[in-house]
Amino acid sequence: MSLTPPDNLGNPGSIPGKITTRSLVEMKNRGERIACLTAYDYLMAEILDRSGIDVILVGDSVAMVVQGRHTTVPVTLDQMVYHSQVVAKGARRALVVGDLPFLSYQVNTAEALRSAGRMVKEAMVEAVKVEGGRTIAPTVKRIVDVGIPVMGHLGLTPQSIHKFGTYKVRATDPEEADELREDALVLQDAGVFAVVLEKVPAELAAEVSASLEIPVIGIGAGGGCDGQILVSHDMLGLYTQFHPRFVRRYAELGTAMEGAFEEYVKDVRSGSFPSPDESY
Ligand code: KIV
Repeated sequence: MSLTPPDNLGNPGSIPGKITTRSLVEMKNRGERIACLTAYDYLMAEILDRSGIDVILVGDSVAMVVQGRHTTVPVTLDQMVYHSQVVAKGARRALVVGDLPFLSYQVNTAEALRSAGRMVKEAMVEAVKVEGGRTIAPTVKRIVDVGIPVMGHLGLTPQSIHKFGTYKVRATDPEEADELREDALVLQDAGVFAVVLEKVPAELAAEVSASLEIPVIGIGAGGGCDGQILVSHDMLGLYTQFHPRFVRRYAELGTAMEGAFEEYVKDVRSGSFPSPDESY
């Protein structure tokens, strides 16, 4: 039996530096920052994996950046299983985490277990992510107890957007900040291997990161977290419907693609494509 962790398809392997939930905690202990991004398809997962990314999240943000929905709420478990399956095929070294979509884990623990089980058995992700604190901690514990690693998500939790009514920064008042501190500890006690903190004040995020033994992955939560995550389509300039200040644009692929498509249209219309060299 191999002592090295299996790859994302469960093949016993020897992938150098394969990231596991355990290696993320070790990275935190060594003070190494954890780099995470989202993917929704095979090709993007392959490119991300080659780049040395540590965690690929199959986010329910797929609803917005791939399906054109206005929120993450409508994506279904079947759709998350599908996107997670194709991402897991493309990733070898990175840890693949799949979002459990809205209402696939909140109704009761049995349903949550079945949903998490589908993500691991059918989609071959190595962990699932859920949103919320104290209210879902017993469910988290049960999922972890059966052997499925869980990542938490606190602060701005987009599945609750209709309750919040706004995407503004969370936990700016002392009461909500205290609730977040407590939720983070409760999730850690329930067994999550990491927690995402979205759009909360940098000082609070740094304090929570320092107080937890597990890694805290920030998005719009400042530089004091143990790692960072962004939606790939945002940082690549592909999804431009809004541009929160926490998104650093590393490329303008949307503009580049539009230019390429316009040129193609022009060449087809003028007859300059295909050329004799591009013909048989
Ligand atoms: O769905 C998603 O992409 C996420 C990240 C923003 C953390 O949850």
